[in-house]
Amino acid sequence: MSSAQSESTPAQRREALKEVFAQAKGCVRCPELAATRRTVVFGSGNADAELMFVGEAPGASEDEQGVPFVGRAGKLLETLLEEVGLQRTDVFIANTLKCRPPGNRDPLPIEIDNCQDYLHRQVELIQPTVICTLGNFSTKLLRGDPTGITRLHGQPEVLTLGRRAVRLYPIFHPAAALYTPRMLETLREDFAGLPQLLAMGAPEQPSLEEVPEIDGALSAGGQPGAVDPGEPPERAAQDDVAAGGGGQAAEADQLGLF
Ligand code: URA
Repeated sequence: MSSAQSESTPAQRREALKEVFAQAKGCVRCPELAATRRTVVFGSGNADAELMFVGEAPGASEDEQGVPFVGRAGKLLETLLEEVGLQRTDVFIANTLKCRPPGNRDPLPIEIDNCQDYLHRQVELIQPTVICTLGNFSTKLLRGDPTGITRLHGQPEVLTLGRRAVRLYPIFHPAAALYTPRMLETLREDFAGLPQLLAMGAPEQPSLEEVPEIDGALSAGGQPGAVDPGEPPERAAQDDVAAGGGGQAAEADQLGLF
């Protein structure tokens, strides 16, 4: 983040986020995804959120509506948020991939690599204090390490992404809990840690000399994620009929930004 960017107002950062979305809309870095998607699901919510969620990739409902987490997993995410006193409009929700993989297949390593600049720009511009990664793909990408979610969930750590230190909080993907009551309990327990984590505020930020300057509209720090294709699928329930609840974000603004 340049010093100009670190001094920018929330409104300026929101406008910059819109520009990144405009770039993403025309993205053809992944020819198969560009040819098969209906929309680019950039993300939605509060563009100045303290808490950001990063899921895996849009499913059929998200691809249709252009808004992340509008299906059953999204409905569960909203319920879990409400249980800790938060609304969807308080947070920003994004995905590792902005385009739907055909048939809900897993994201390919090349696709994750192609798409990661958008996520890093979102983090830079939204400036969240806490990033909650939902499941393996986003956790591995942002940590730059193949350790799986089963070992990491519920354990916050401070991570420097680009020029910003954030509290990373990996949790299971809500889709994994749709049909498994024990997983739902684990997810609830991990969600219960969120208010305390948010109350800690932002971690100490690195001095500007410690991290490299970022040039260009779509370049950012962070390492390419190592994806272990052997991990269990997390989006099995993703194609379920949209459960509603995310549509208000799309109505609020062309982008779903608040
Ligand atoms: N699962 C995800 O990972 N992202 C979505 O947007 C919906 C379901």
